[in-house]
Formats: sequence, structure tokens, C-alpha cells
Amino acid sequence: MSDDVQTPRVASNWRPRHIAIVMDGNGRWAQQRSLPRTAGHREGAKAVRRVVEACVERDIAVLTLFAFSSENWCRPRREVEILMNLFLTTLRGEIRRLDVANVRLRFIGDHRAFSPTLQDYIRKAEQRTMRNTGLTLVIAANYGGRWDIVQAAKQAAADVAAGRLSPSDLTSETFHRYTCLADLPELDLFIRTGGEQRISNFLLWQLAYTELYFSERLWPDYSAGDLDAACAAFASRQRRFGQTGEQVMQDQHA
Ligand code: FPP
Repeated sequence: MSDDVQTPRVASNWRPRHIAIVMDGNGRWAQQRSLPRTAGHREGAKAVRRVVEACVERDIAVLTLFAFSSENWCRPRREVEILMNLFLTTLRGEIRRLDVANVRLRFIGDHRAFSPTLQDYIRKAEQRTMRNTGLTLVIAANYGGRWDIVQAAKQAAADVAAGRLSPSDLTSETFHRYTCLADLPELDLFIRTGGEQRISNFLLWQLAYTELYFSERLWPDYSAGDLDAACAAFASRQRRFGQTGEQVMQDQHA
């Protein structure tokens, strides 16, 4: 019997509770229009608003967006600066609307590399919305899946060193508690836009049983209808979690 907390037992999946999106294709969207890449990011911020609204309307519990990966620092300095400004201005511009819509904001990633202004604003946005009970919107910024696993390992090791955790008690269930998003529902559906089919060091630990969905749509063009198409594909799949198809059918009719 697996000790794996990530093995949900219920396979009914007409609607995902937790969706994560790699918002890819901003640069290509801009290039197709002979615009600078940063114009694609600005248009991408509008798509973020559309998709957040769609998730609120559809009663999705959690939406996790990959806004800036640990690897994105390698981009041209000017593009990184513009992306940072865009986060700050988008946050400032949207926070009231998000709060009124009962959205709870969370940020994951190593934020120490961000400007003190951005770090401060991230804290304030989380505090302001922490009691909201609607959609939890998680923004992954300076996040990497390997970083998440390593920071979890460091915390677990510190607890072992301090005598709070015995190495023999370290199972995937106890380890899971140290990873980002441990307090949120399991990740049901991973969407990547922009036509590429890879994970790009996103939520590596959390993706263990997640359904993967790849869309050709460039992120600035992504719509509520595209989200519905992804959810419909999700609903049509049989999630087995290691069981046989017959066992899943039996469980569903039990
Ligand atoms: C990937 O497209 C996108 C990013 C690295 C940035 C995502 C940022 C936003 C959508 C804007 C604001 C977000 C928030 C949460 C406020 P790419 O540049 O790699 O596109 P390409 O593959 O076509 O070059």
C-alpha cells in the first residue's frame, strides 16, 4: 500500500478543483504583430484577468499561474525589468477588484531576488485577501519545481536535526507537507498554452497525478472558451491513480 498522500481515491472529475497554467506564447503573439515582446506580456496580463474571472464564475477552487520562472532571469535585462514592473502595476491595478470578487491571493517562489517594493506589495496583497473564501489565486514568481523540492528537503532536514522529525517518519505524505501548496487541493489539471509540450520545471512534485493538457493558443489570445475546452477534455478522461479501469468504474458505482 502506498504511503502517498497524493493518490486521491475519488476519480469523478467533471470539473477540476485546482488548475495550473504555464502562460506561454506572449513573445510570439507580439512578434506576429511586429510588436516588441513586452507588448505580448502586457496583452498576456489582460488574458490573466479574463481567465481569473472565468475561474471565479466557474467556481474553481484554485488557479496557479506560472508568472516568472527561476530560469526567466536569463532573459534580456530590459524584458525582465518590464516584466517586474508589469507584475507590480497589474497587482496594484487589480487588487481591489480581486478582493471584491472574494479572491485569496497567494505567492509561491523565492522572492528574495525581487525589489523591496515588490516584496512588500506581495506581502500586503496576501494579507489583504487572506480571509477571502472564493478562488485561491496562486502566482508562482521566481518559482521552480526543483527549488520547491529542495526547499522542502531543507525544512525536513532542519526538523530532523532539531529532533522534531524522525528520519523513519519521513514518507511522501510527511514530505508533502513541506512543499508549496500543501494546504491546497491536489493539482487536477495542468494547462500549457503556446503549442510547446513540456513542464519547464513547474510544479514537479505536485504534478504526480495531474492530467496534462496542451493548447496551441498563444496566451494573449486565451479565452474563457479555451478554458472550457480544457475542462471538457479533463472531464472526458478516466483518472486511474494506478488502479485498473474496471476498479475505477466499480468505485464510481459503489
Ligand atoms: C511566457 O511567454 C510568459 C512569461 C514568461 C511571462 C508571463 C507573464 C504574464 C502573462 C504577464 C502578467 C502576469 C501576472 C500574473 C500579473 P514567452 O515570452 O516565453 O512567449 P514565447 O514563447 O512566445 O517567446
